[in-house]
Amino acid sequence: MRVLLIGSGGREHALASSLAADPAVDQLIAAPGNPGIAAVAELRPVTATDPQAVAALAVEVAADLVVVGPEAPLVAGVTDAVRAKGIACFGPSGAAAVLEGSKSFAKDVMAAAGVPTARAVTCRSADEVAAALDAFGTPYVVKNDGLAAGKGVVVTDDRAAALAHADSCGQVVVEEYLAGPEVSLFVVTDGTAAVPLLPAQDFKRVSVGDTGPNTGGMGAYAPLPWAPPDLVDQVMAEVVHPTLAEMRHRGTPFAGLLYVGLAVTAAGPRVIEFNARFGDPETQVVLALLETPLAGLLHAAATGTLADHPPLRWRDGAAVTVVLASAGYPAAARTGDVITGAGQAGISHAGTARDATGQLVSAGGRVLSATGVGADLAGARDAAYRLLAGVDLPGGHFRADIALAAAEGRITLP
Ligand code: AMP
Ligand code: GLY
Repeated sequence: MRVLLIGSGGREHALASSLAADPAVDQLIAAPGNPGIAAVAELRPVTATDPQAVAALAVEVAADLVVVGPEAPLVAGVTDAVRAKGIACFGPSGAAAVLEGSKSFAKDVMAAAGVPTARAVTCRSADEVAAALDAFGTPYVVKNDGLAAGKGVVVTDDRAAALAHADSCGQVVVEEYLAGPEVSLFVVTDGTAAVPLLPAQDFKRVSVGDTGPNTGGMGAYAPLPWAPPDLVDQVMAEVVHPTLAEMRHRGTPFAGLLYVGLAVTAAGPRVIEFNARFGDPETQVVLALLETPLAGLLHAAATGTLADHPPLRWRDGAAVTVVLASAGYPAAARTGDVITGAGQAGISHAGTARDATGQLVSAGGRVLSATGVGADLAGARDAAYRLLAGVDLPGGHFRADIALAAAEGRITLP
């Protein structure tokens, strides 16, 4: 099988490594990719958000399967253009990707499907925002209604800060605060059949102890030793299947990767958000534990044959990934710093580039991630931090507490 992977982040590096390791894949092309992905795939330039350009490249390389990683190309309708050429494509249609692209659309689908989520109000004016903040009380949760690369949400007790965020966004969703540990559950689906991957946990805040601003994600681990044993079954029954049925009912079936972001509250799991693609950096830990060949799984989802796919196999143990971010991230990421040690197995490149002399330099906020596996979370943490210790990035910063509370048994359910 010839596979074309679209994207250039840490998630795509992890996807590329797993796809390249699938014996059914005899050629892997990544576009545009990054210097880390270049070690496992042939890179081709492309504007990932240009549907016709991606479709033309898929035809040119005679792809049997196109896998679209990031949200922006999905929302732009890249998968529709690829499928119009008769090529199998993993990722939802542009119409279905609105589940991630618009928070108010997602809320509307959840309401229609009876999916448990935070109560919310879509607001278009400062008066509406003020009324909604007062109705829900603190902590205030204010979300940009559109795509914001994981940085469109402000959770704060400061009313002025909540109002200022709303003012900077235009249309916002104001919602009830959900208390409880967060879970990222990835579900591979062909629109009807649905297969959950291992639940993972992401670390959204930039600094140790879950302090500082939200980021795209500073680290992750899987599995979740504290999760209720029936959590995945419950989320499949109460969230995933009703949502997929509602999307079919609307004539826009959702096929691809449904990312369910949840809080496990005192009242049970509640949806915080849907994404239409694999999460970054949770993908790094989930794929590190997946033994089932990835290309076959994604091809089954892309061709409506997921019900016939064999059950997934997982390796025992745990995985932890730690993101190394550039100086100034998330406010203003410095670029152009020389990176060493980033060629080691287990490193996923995200914001890296080659400069004119061929040196590896930082080129974005989240520069790379280091993934370790071990018999348990403590062993996986050791492996991840040891790997990261071999990387040098001037001014780089990372969280030292990824998976620490879980490894020490300090996460409790409300
Ligand atoms: P989102 O982009 O919707 O995933 O939000 C980013 C982060 O903000 C989430 O991972 C949560 O940590 C936090 N968050 C969003 N919505 C809520 C909520 N209703 N209650 C508590 N925390 C939230
Ligand atoms: N790690 C969160 C996300 O991918 O949206």
